[in-house]
Amino acid sequence: MAKRSFAGKRVILTGASSGIGWYLASDLVRAGAYVVIAGRRSERLQQLRLSFGNPQKRLIAVTGDITDAEHRQTLVTTAVEQLGGIDLVINNAGMGAIGNFADASAERLRRIMEVDFFGATELTRLALPHLKRGNQPAIGIVSSVLAHRAVPGKSEYCAAKFALRGWAESLRVELKPAGIDVCNVAPSTTRSEFFDSLLETARGTQSRSAGSQSPEYVARNILKALRQRKRDLILSPGGKSLVWLGKFAPRFTDQLLLKYA
Ligand SMILES: NC(=O)c1ccc[n+]([C@@H]2O[C@H](COP(=O)([O-])OP(=O)(O)OC[C@H]3O[C@@H](n4cnc5c(N)ncnc54)[C@H](OP(=O)(O)O)[C@@H]3O)[C@@H](O)[C@H]2O)c1
Repeated sequence: MAKRSFAGKRVILTGASSGIGWYLASDLVRAGAYVVIAGRRSERLQQLRLSFGNPQKRLIAVTGDITDAEHRQTLVTTAVEQLGGIDLVINNAGMGAIGNFADASAERLRRIMEVDFFGATELTRLALPHLKRGNQPAIGIVSSVLAHRAVPGKSEYCAAKFALRGWAESLRVELKPAGIDVCNVAPSTTRSEFFDSLLETARGTQSRSAGSQSPEYVARNILKALRQRKRDLILSPGGKSLVWLGKFAPRFTDQLLLKYA
């Protein structure tokens, strides 16, 4: 199977205004792609666009909230009208909250599912007819190691990321005859603005993790996974260990999480 090249590829990338998405956009442009970049913070998207001097419309910024159906349609229309089609959609936009489910509102669950799950699935639905006519077409999903093993205090986020992984697994087989790859990449804790943008942080709680990775490293490895046509990838050794332990010693893992998470 030929490796995927990004040269000349027409991409929609969500969550490009900071963190992992910022570096995904930068690396894609360097690799020769044309990218429609999305996020709510317009000034950040412009900053990213201008950092490349925007040669030949390599980066096209579209500001909006991924939960807004009109914004999702604009992303697809912009790619089709200005780039001539869509070869790759990377669903990267995401957010979370910290705190126990019992203390949280119904709105918190709804909002996280809307952003992390429905934002990605419904954007992909709109892009699918165009991806079917694309060149080496693919759907990239930035999920999380918490899509493989859930932890306490992040139940809504884990649920949304588990849902994404289940959806991706089904879609991968459905889209095989159309030649569209589905690549699900699971980062562990990443030094981005994620923890500054939490919907809620319960008093006295903090996110604990054994080590973290840089957004540059994570972005590079997401693109490597797409290039190598990987299906499902957990990025960090710590993440792999957690998933392995959770699978083979689930009760012990629960106890460890109760004590340390
Ligand atoms: N950081 C971690 O530890 C970690 C670990 C595993 C997985 N991940 C996943 O990696 C992805 C990228 O996160 P990151 O670490 O790079 O965090 P980040 O710096 O906070 O970036 C999140 C991106 O998502 C966008 N976004 C959030 N809510 C949005 C909304 N309602 N509509 C449109 N865009 C929205 C943000 O843009 P605007 O604010 O401009 O809208 C931003 O560009 C997320 O899916 C996250 O779940 C992160």
